[in-house]
Amino acid sequence: MKDIFPVARFQNLRTPFYYYDTALLRETLRTINQEIAKYPNFLVHYAVKANANPKLLSIIRESGMGVDCVSGGEIRAAIHSGFPADKIVFAGVGKADWEINLGLEYGIFCFNVESIPELEVIDQLAAEQGKIANVAFRINPDVGAHTHANITTGLAENKFGISMQDMDQVIDVALGMKNVKFIGLHFHIGSQILDMGDFIALCNRVNELQDKLEARHILVEHINVGGGLGVDYAHPDRQAIPDFADYFATYAKQLKLRPYQTLHFELGRSVVAQCGTLVSRVLYVKRGVNKQFAILDAGMTDLIRPALYQAYHKIENITSDEPAEAYDVVGPICESSDVFAKAVDLNKVRRGDFIAIRSAGAYGEIMASGYNCRELPKGYTSDELI
Ligand code: LLP
Repeated sequence: MKDIFPVARFQNLRTPFYYYDTALLRETLRTINQEIAKYPNFLVHYAVKANANPKLLSIIRESGMGVDCVSGGEIRAAIHSGFPADKIVFAGVGKADWEINLGLEYGIFCFNVESIPELEVIDQLAAEQGKIANVAFRINPDVGAHTHANITTGLAENKFGISMQDMDQVIDVALGMKNVKFIGLHFHIGSQILDMGDFIALCNRVNELQDKLEARHILVEHINVGGGLGVDYAHPDRQAIPDFADYFATYAKQLKLRPYQTLHFELGRSVVAQCGTLVSRVLYVKRGVNKQFAILDAGMTDLIRPALYQAYHKIENITSDEPAEAYDVVGPICESSDVFAKAVDLNKVRRGDFIAIRSAGAYGEIMASGYNCRELPKGYTSDELI
């Protein structure tokens, strides 16, 4: 297990840092491509929000995927990494005028629109640029996902999307506009979903809505079902590549795609989570009353998921082979929530040991902050450290 890290090459690097196994990333991308090749109308967009490290973006771009962006900054990051504009979808509940203008200037493939006021602004800005913007409507399918409350997005109470009752009206408004072209429907029910039943529930909902639209003779060229496929945080090495075969087959079987339609996916976590590890060093081992703490130089500023979502990440001491002991693994930030895990077994920890926090490639580096005036962690790829 420890062989998967080039520990000797870590010695001279300043910790904490993110380490990315690019062989695993490439293998993951190959698997996705191999699976979607079975379905000629399937297209995958990488959700840049999961990780915008330029080294990873360029590997993902080489695979031929498109991208899903949620801000002007992400559009710029994607363009700088060489993604073609006509493979960019732009989502987000609050797009600023400059961001819409940027998307129009680049001629992105589609705006995923979340409200009528937003649609009006896109129509107006597109008119000012003398362009026609492709739009898809993000419909809130009111489908719950079995995941953490903070990362479920498809319920009626969420801020995301347009309600199903309003769908017809919004489409009618768009059809009456000169500078937008209605091309699709967009959905996303949440993230870290491992129960295919949740995706089946979404397929059923999409099938219902499609039937309704067809009855009105409204044809929709593009269906976008968002992302959400989860990864195995407990066993990062057991199934490092998620079961994409099952995931895509579920959609192929359950969603009644019309022959003229393209089905789009926006995958983030399942593409990059397992290739990334946060590597830190132990600063101190401190004895508490009934426990001992391993105090790391990495904290919640480097990886906020445990503090924000009580997320589990597997933690390993990659320096030591000594018998395991239980530790609370904590960071140096002045917040009591700066805890990575409590009472985890680690091979006996000593000052200076390298600690690996696994499955951190998605929503890790990109969510890092400068709180406490800390430096942002760097990201190194296995290619660079050979
Ligand atoms: N499409 C839309 C519209 C989304 O909102 C998201 C994620 C995705 C695609 C990509 O979903 P994925 O394939 O990565 O599940 N920071 C949280 C996750 C937030 C997800 C937000 N939306 C975390 O660390 O768990």
